[in-house]
Amino acid sequence: SRNGKLAGKRVLVTAGGTMERLDPVRYLTNDSSGKMGFAIAEAARLMGADVTVVAGRTAVSPPAGVRVVRVESAQQMLEAVTGVYEETDIVVKSAAVADYRAVNVSDRKLKKSGEKLVLELERTTDILETLGERKTHQFLVGFAAETEQVEHYAMDKLRRKHCDLIVANDVSKDGAGFNGDTNIVQVFGTEGLVESLPLLSKREVAIRLMELIAGRLTPRGGE
Ligand code: PMT
Repeated sequence: SRNGKLAGKRVLVTAGGTMERLDPVRYLTNDSSGKMGFAIAEAARLMGADVTVVAGRTAVSPPAGVRVVRVESAQQMLEAVTGVYEETDIVVKSAAVADYRAVNVSDRKLKKSGEKLVLELERTTDILETLGERKTHQFLVGFAAETEQVEHYAMDKLRRKHCDLIVANDVSKDGAGFNGDTNIVQVFGTEGLVESLPLLSKREVAIRLMELIAGRLTPRGGE
């Protein structure tokens, strides 16, 4: 193993995109491949952690040696994550979770009718915010996919969702964000910018991020 820095730590990672059903054969989803989340899970395992990944739709296979819980919707991801939260030390929320879902999910394939179809959507529960509210001892790390004013929105998410760190990726930059093998991230803590990483493979981003997290854990019994 890489080093034992996370030995004895239980790490929960979310990966991939949620799928919000419209009918039995159609759904709303996004471009998340799961590469970032799976790389984080692998890095944590290499550092000796006990890793659970809650994964939505993904385009790649999960790493070996981690527990994988498959979910479809944001609601299912919420339930899977809150179910193990109490026994978790570190949470990294790299999944791309739907902000809206269909108000009515048809149990039959929707039929064509008029020229236009209006879908009625409603907000999903914000998982990260829920975890922030219920935080006891967990080290909570969120992601922020932004296209403008990255620092402003990242710091706003960090405060509102009671995160210890926010990993912001400017998804408008080439080589950053959804689907590719690389990312460009800036990590923010309660004090502001903590680390600004250049274009790196998602694997390398994951290792740097988990090293940073390990270095910021308060030793048990400390304070
Ligand atoms: O999977 P890849 O193809 O490798 O791509 C990686 C990635 C671009 C998906 C990843 O790096 C990333 O940015 N993930 C977060 C995407 C996102 O949904 O960002 P957001 O700014 O909309 O959400 C902010 C945070 O709130 C995220 O931690 C998200 O998991 C969380 N959230 C959002 C909505 C919701 N209902 N519940 C949540 O917990």
